[in-house]
Amino acid sequence: MQVIAIANQKGGVGKTTSAVTLGGIARRNGKRVLLVDLDPHGSLSAYFGLDPETQSPSIYDLFQKPMGEMELLQLVRPSAHEGMDILPASMSMVTLDRQFVGRGGMGLVLDKTLKMLASEYDIAFLDCPPILGVLMVNALAACSQLLIPVQTEFLAIKGLERMLHTLEMVTRSRKTPLDFRIVPTLFDRRTKASTTSLRMLRSRYQNLIWAGAVPVDTQLRDASLAGQSAAWFAPTSRGTQAYCSLMRQVVDLPKAIPSAREGL
Ligand SMILES: Nc1ncnc2c1ncn2[C@@H]1O[C@H](COP(=O)(O)OP(=O)(O)OP(=O)(O)O)[C@@H](O)[C@H]1O
Ligand SMILES: [Mg+2]
Repeated sequence: MQVIAIANQKGGVGKTTSAVTLGGIARRNGKRVLLVDLDPHGSLSAYFGLDPETQSPSIYDLFQKPMGEMELLQLVRPSAHEGMDILPASMSMVTLDRQFVGRGGMGLVLDKTLKMLASEYDIAFLDCPPILGVLMVNALAACSQLLIPVQTEFLAIKGLERMLHTLEMVTRSRKTPLDFRIVPTLFDRRTKASTTSLRMLRSRYQNLIWAGAVPVDTQLRDASLAGQSAAWFAPTSRGTQAYCSLMRQVVDLPKAIPSAREGL
């Protein structure tokens, strides 16, 4: 199973949107997809109608006691799309950092869980919380690739430096170096702030940055209101097409998304 984490310590940069849209594109390419909601706020779970305030069991329970495969399969919930499932979040996950402070050995909980689910899914997307804690550490240990969405504006670039520093610290103990890519998001080519930031990002990070950019596209917002991935809700929109291109170039799915006429 390919495991792709989507993380940035800055909030509101498009992490959840990226997970849901890329997940939908992978599904439409015939992959069996698992979306993992590691954010105690549970935006990804809520996207598909699962209330993080009442969600039980949730990823919280993975950290309380080891689960067998049957228990684990009960934890998995369906999304709006067949073949794309969710490991849901709950608000209680906010207490995990306090529970495990100073206690080692909790960094591989997610890795072990995903290994148990490896025969059920082809690809998993991990939607990370915007804070460095036990959940993000677990994601960075479990993933084979990391995408770092960065909003194309000056403050977000500052946040990126912090994220890269975190990455260096947290991934020191990995056996293999982590393959990561910066993904410019919320790009608005009409504004100078956006075009200048994108140029800065490209010159500063060169081969660490994906060559494209996800544009501001209200269809992505509308898709979340409709509780569907934009891969179904708006497959031909500029936003979805940008994510398709990201998928082809970075995640290595040659077909990305079928045209709007095929099998919708
Ligand atoms: N390319 C885009 N065009 C327009 N709106 C977008 C785009 N990407 C994300 N959004 C909207 O911006 C808001 C923040 O996006 P999202 O929730 O994906 O960010 P996030 O990084 O997961 O935030 P958080 O850190 O709070 O979890 C949402 O309302 C989402 O619908
Ligand atoms: Mg989010």
